[in-house]
Amino acid sequence: MTKQRKAIITGAADGIGWALARRFAAAGCRIAIADIDGDRAAMRAAELGDGHIGLACDVAEEASAAAAVTAAAAALGGIDILVNNAGIGDTHLPTLEQDIGHFERVLKVHLNGTFLMSREVARHMTGSGGAILNISSIAGLGGLPRRNAYGAAKAGIAQMTKNLACEWAGIGIRVNALAPGYVGTALVKTLEAAGRIDRGKLERRIPMGRLAEPEEIAEAGWFLCSPAASYVTGAILSVDGGWQAFSDAGDASRP
Ligand SMILES: NC(=O)c1ccc[n+]([C@@H]2O[C@H](COP(=O)([O-])OP(=O)(O)OC[C@H]3O[C@@H](n4cnc5c(N)ncnc54)[C@H](O)[C@@H]3O)[C@@H](O)[C@H]2O)c1
Repeated sequence: MTKQRKAIITGAADGIGWALARRFAAAGCRIAIADIDGDRAAMRAAELGDGHIGLACDVAEEASAAAAVTAAAAALGGIDILVNNAGIGDTHLPTLEQDIGHFERVLKVHLNGTFLMSREVARHMTGSGGAILNISSIAGLGGLPRRNAYGAAKAGIAQMTKNLACEWAGIGIRVNALAPGYVGTALVKTLEAAGRIDRGKLERRIPMGRLAEPEEIAEAGWFLCSPAASYVTGAILSVDGGWQAFSDAGDASRP
């Protein structure tokens, strides 16, 4: 009988994280959903069924991250998988109008959050054949105007993925990242509603001509955390419909 694996997924009360939680649960994992919205995390855990838990956690705050990891390890009986998914969007304002408060918060949620959760979880993973999955972005691999904090945070996450992969390979922890393109989640719908992104223009820039579904990101995420990826560490896997591959002039696809 294969061992039931225990996974903590941050920001899993919604969007890509929620799709990851459903995919990992379908693969037989017990899930701890750690989200800043504790009520929604508990509701989502109940939707997954018995054996899964929801926790209120702000990944950017050291005490909150540590407490969530301790609680998850106690409730699940250890942790084998961590997904650092929690994130917030940028303002998309011109740089001259960007304020330092939002800039710092974006860095804190993404970078401090990924660092703190990884450090805390690794204490529980040593020798267990653990897997950590980080969520970078096309915004961390190429230049996107007006997205200073978000781009820097996602580039930092890609770099931290490689650092941790090299440091922890010797103790049996694999560390990989996904670099999704645009995904049709609440985060993107909010930006669209606020006129900060133009969906038609985006779709023309994507060789596959459409945004990703959260489930498509979750499928790639499960692969990287599963035994099928036993020799994969330090990888940044693009799941972007060809966005990163395209560097020609003009549109990459036709409507
Ligand atoms: N949607 C996209 O197009 C896209 C593309 C590339 C990468 N990403 C990344 O994927 C991840 C998920 O994005 P999404 O689109 O599903 O977002 P979303 O806004 O739909 O969901 C994010 C979740 O994170 C939670 N959260 C926010 N701040 C938190 C904190 N400090 N601590 C704990 N939880 C917190 C929110 O409550 C929410 O449940 C993010 O890291 C995002 O940057 C998204």
